[in-house]
Amino acid sequence: MPRPISATISLPSLRHNLAATAAQFNDANALRPGPKPKIWAVIKANAYGHGIHNAVQAFERADGLAMLDLDEAVQCREAGWSKPILLLEGAFRAADLEVIDHYSLTATVHSAEQIAMLEGARPAAPFDVFVKLNTGMNRLGFSPAEYRGAYARIEQLRQSGVVGSMGKMTHFARADDSPEVTAEQIRIYNEVTHGLPGADSVCNSAASFTRGLWQSLASGLPQWIRPGICLYGASPFAARSAQSMGLLPAMTLRAELISVRDIPAGAGVGYGHVFTASAPMRIGVVACGYADGYPRHAPNGTPVVVDGVRTRLLGRVSMDMLIVDLDPVPGARAGSQVVLWGEGGPSVDEVAAACGTIGYELLCAVAPRVPKIIEKDES
Ligand SMILES: Cc1ncc(COP(=O)(O)O)c(C=O)c1O
Repeated sequence: MPRPISATISLPSLRHNLAATAAQFNDANALRPGPKPKIWAVIKANAYGHGIHNAVQAFERADGLAMLDLDEAVQCREAGWSKPILLLEGAFRAADLEVIDHYSLTATVHSAEQIAMLEGARPAAPFDVFVKLNTGMNRLGFSPAEYRGAYARIEQLRQSGVVGSMGKMTHFARADDSPEVTAEQIRIYNEVTHGLPGADSVCNSAASFTRGLWQSLASGLPQWIRPGICLYGASPFAARSAQSMGLLPAMTLRAELISVRDIPAGAGVGYGHVFTASAPMRIGVVACGYADGYPRHAPNGTPVVVDGVRTRLLGRVSMDMLIVDLDPVPGARAGSQVVLWGEGGPSVDEVAAACGTIGYELLCAVAPRVPKIIEKDES
């Protein structure tokens, strides 16, 4: 028997979040003329910890899938995904182009080295590409000064049959917290890509949930949005809950109490005694620790739900266990149900905020040793 811990992945919630994101984006941008946007469902990092196969099933209505690991892309094709797949970082080395060609993957092109790789390739079918512009993220992409030259070099490859369709893309650095910085990135994008044909792809989750942002994209060409975190029911914004955005948690991390005890005033709890009881109290030990992916730096007071009652973490998280306050749950016993985050518990964003991180990190970090339960239908 496995330890009493599991992560439930809800395919209906993943589906719901995809539909909610599409509806939100279409509604927020209803006034803009031109074709409706297409969606790259971003499933990198094992679908933000939710599993590639689950994502392939749940996001069947997306127009494409986006990731960066070639093995994950191949898994999608082997699972039967026949629509486009975008590699967000493109080829890492020339040999990757053979995989890209064989599995008909769409490649981001963000550097001169990648153009040189394309120039040396003789694919069976032309490569579809998105050419990335650095508008201020300063991570990947051609600078505004380089961009049109890079685009022209790839256009030559298109004419010689090495490249098929050409799109343009950029990535926002502060779509979650700075409309001004995002507006400046859009201004640069509009200016540099002006008149270049091909689809645009600019919006992550935060931008997809920002009213009116799309209208400021000048081209009116087909748009592929690239939402990630919102599809998993977490929020890209510090001050806007996923629930208020109409999203449902797609991962629920559950465990059980394996021990309950009463401690006197003055007793220290766990490694380092970073919590000391100020009065007699009841505490419980949960079968979940940092080796399961629960953050070790979660402080005293981090929210947790026991038997449906919200309570708090006490003391330092151990490798395989953590300790909670049972004073608010007097009926709790060994075997009582604990929700660390997700449905019926605190949101992953609340836990992340308590730990000074973001929901993304917690979702991606759930350890392989945690058994996954796949919920396929509405419960
Ligand atoms: C290039 C690119 N596009 C889209 C996304 C999706 O972002 P989010 O999960 O914030 O929606 C990411 C995530 O880091 C990314 O790197």
